[in-house]
Amino acid sequence: MKQKLDEILKDGLMALENADDLKALDEIRVEIFGKAGKLTAVLRGMKDVAPEQRKEVGAMANAVREQLEKALSEKLCQIENAQLLAEMEKEKIDITQPSKGTKKGALHPLTKFNNKFIDICVEMGFTVIQTPEVETDYYNFEALNVPKNHPSRDMQDSFYITDSIVMRTHTSPSQVRAMETMKPPFKMVCPGRVYRNDDDSSHSPIFNQFEALVIDENVSLKDFMGMIKEMLVRLYGKDVKMRVRPAFFPFTEPSIEIDATCQMCGGKGCSLCKGTGFSEVFGGGIVNPKILEMSGIDSSKYGGFAFGPGIDRSVMITNKIPNIKYLFRNDLRFLKQMR
Ligand code: PHE
Repeated sequence: MKQKLDEILKDGLMALENADDLKALDEIRVEIFGKAGKLTAVLRGMKDVAPEQRKEVGAMANAVREQLEKALSEKLCQIENAQLLAEMEKEKIDITQPSKGTKKGALHPLTKFNNKFIDICVEMGFTVIQTPEVETDYYNFEALNVPKNHPSRDMQDSFYITDSIVMRTHTSPSQVRAMETMKPPFKMVCPGRVYRNDDDSSHSPIFNQFEALVIDENVSLKDFMGMIKEMLVRLYGKDVKMRVRPAFFPFTEPSIEIDATCQMCGGKGCSLCKGTGFSEVFGGGIVNPKILEMSGIDSSKYGGFAFGPGIDRSVMITNKIPNIKYLFRNDLRFLKQMR
C-alpha cells in the first residue's frame, strides 16, 4: 500500500510537471482524484488495511493527497498566468488611432435665457424665489384683484384642478406670496412655468415668465422705468431703445406695456414688429395699494412696482425659431441646432 502511494505521488508529480494546458491538467486531476481515480481507490481501500497499520498508511495517504492537490493548484495558476500573458501580448492598443470623439451636451435655449436674466437680476440685488405652479384661486386671482368675471378666470382660459385650485396662469401669485413673507424693503424675482388654454404657432399651453417685484419707500414710476431701461441694456446691449404704452392690469395702477427695439430686425422694421421697429417685452406697473394692503404691507409707508416678462417670445426671436412648440418637444435635431 505504501509503495502504491509512493508511485501515485511520483507519477502524479511527473505528469503535472509535463502538463502544459488546462485540458491536460484536468485529465490528471480526474486520473488521480476522480471517482475511479487512483488515489480515490486507495482511500477507499483503507478499510482493508490491517488495523495496526491503518494509522500510518492513513497519514501517508493524506500527505500524498495534500501534496498532489497543492501541486495541481500551483500548476493551474502557472498555466492561467501564461495564457493571460499570451493574450496581452496579442492585444496591442494602437495609441496613434484617432478617437471616436465624445458627444457634447448643451443647455436648452430657454435655460440659457433664464440664466442670463437671473444673473442680471441677482447683480441688481434681487432675491430669486420659486412659488407653486399649482396655485389656489386666491393667490392666482383673488389676491391680485382679478375680478370674478375676468376672462382669465374662465374654464376655457385656465386649467382648473378643482373649483378653487388652478395651474397658475401667470407668475404674479409670487408677488403676493413674497409680500406676505418678505420684510420690506425687498426686491424679488420669480422665474417659472405658467399655463393657459392657448394653442397655436406662437402660443403654447405651457410657457415661461419672470415676475419681478420691488417694494420700498418713495417708489415712483421713474424709478421703475430707470430699472427697466438698465435691465434691457444688460439684456440686449447699450443701443436698445425703449417705448412705453399705457395698459391695464388689475394689480397695478398705473399699468404700462414696455416695448424694446425689435430683436428680429434690430429696429429697422420687419413683419414681426409690423414695421414699427419695436416689440413688446414686459407688462408691469406700480403695485396697486389694494394689493399691498391685502398682503399685509402698509401702503401709506411702502409702495412698489412689478413687471412680468414672458421669455419664450424673446428666445424664439433671438434664435429665429418659427414655432413655440419646438421649445417644448425636446427633439434632438432642434436642440443640436441651438448649441
Ligand atoms: N402677470 C401679467 C401677465 O401675465 C404681467 C404683469 C406682471 C403685469 C407684473 C403687471 C405686473 O400678463
